[in-house]
Amino acid sequence: MKAMKIGNLTVPLPIIQGGMGVCVSLSGLASAVANEGGIGVISAVGIGMTEPNYKKHFRESNKIALIKEIRKARLKSKGIIGVNIMMAVSDYEDLLKVAFEEKIDVVIVGAGLPLKKPTYLLENTATKFIPKVSSARAAKLIFRRWSEQYNRVPDAVVIEGPLAGGHLGFKKEDAISSEISLSSIVKDTVNEIGYFEQKYGIEIPVIAGGGIYTGKDMFDIMSAGAKGVIMGTRFVTTNECDVSEKFKQNYISCSQEDITIIDSPVGLPGRVITNDFVKEIQQGKQKPINCSWKCLKTCDYKKSQFCIAEALFNAAQGDFTNGFSFAGTKAYLADKIISVKETISHIKNEYFQEQLRLETIRI
Ligand SMILES: Cc1cc2nc3c(=O)[nH]c(=O)nc-3n(C[C@H](O)[C@H](O)[C@H](O)COP(=O)(O)O)c2cc1C
Ligand code: SF4
Repeated sequence: MKAMKIGNLTVPLPIIQGGMGVCVSLSGLASAVANEGGIGVISAVGIGMTEPNYKKHFRESNKIALIKEIRKARLKSKGIIGVNIMMAVSDYEDLLKVAFEEKIDVVIVGAGLPLKKPTYLLENTATKFIPKVSSARAAKLIFRRWSEQYNRVPDAVVIEGPLAGGHLGFKKEDAISSEISLSSIVKDTVNEIGYFEQKYGIEIPVIAGGGIYTGKDMFDIMSAGAKGVIMGTRFVTTNECDVSEKFKQNYISCSQEDITIIDSPVGLPGRVITNDFVKEIQQGKQKPINCSWKCLKTCDYKKSQFCIAEALFNAAQGDFTNGFSFAGTKAYLADKIISVKETISHIKNEYFQEQLRLETIRI
């Protein structure tokens, strides 16, 4: 398993732990993954919801909580820490600024196309900027725009395929059908990005995720050209994951059939574990909404069926009457809660077993 290079940053273990909101991946999980040589990622979406007065001062609370979590992660680890920010949140710029001011190692931006280079991303900053997209076309669009406007390009790109947990960059029917394969999107992206690698004389890693759960999955996608992987679902059932025990048990007890897709007020489909709350929204039932802060640019609370921020936060706290958990297609494989260290050791073993199996076949 080769270390991954992102510009001048060397990631000893080519695994990025996907940022998971609301309040699923905070400093606990991120620092544990960073300590194992991967990139540990704090999710910034709704991070301030545990702060007092969040509803009145949501922007301030989000900023305060993000600073706290970054600093806590730094105290627990000397490894690589990242922040995940969704472009769809109304305080995207604020959170980005905080992350840069805190000199975060990596920023991963999803749920939108960051066509504009952040103003804080000065030439001399060490922070690596990585868009997360779902197609080679979207990756090319961002890279071409940056190249034309700024004569530079993002440091890497994350490709998230249709099997991922959380919000998806695919139509519902495409996320359900098995027609779109992550490996073909990865191959196309590697081809598109190759042009910019040549133009700037740099390496730009393509990092792949969505349904990457075992070391074998990792081996297969890296054989298709990915330089690293992003994994969210697999890290939920770890001791260090910052979410409630009930949330982790929900993963352990779910079956493959329980994993379903909803329409999220973000304006994208979202993969979740079903429960009564999910069934009710799928049947069209309106849930009470008290939108005292407008956390999402794309959510019209007057028309929304439910408040996604509250629903995800409630689940994170263990309240599944008023919420549900996001989860990837492979969540049903979880069978117990173990440490991040053990999880990574299993992934490495699975990876090497697959490598050995293929080498033996070739001999
Ligand atoms: C519980 C959960 C919450 C997530 N929250 C976010 C988020 O806030 N922002 C984001 O960009 N991606 C989010 N994701 C996606 C992950 O960052 C990652 O890309 C994805 O989990 C990879 O697919 P996998 O779940 O199959 O490993 C979430 C995923 C899960 C499972
Ligand atoms: S209703 Fe929509 S915009 Fe308002 S808090 Fe909930 S998710 Fe955010």
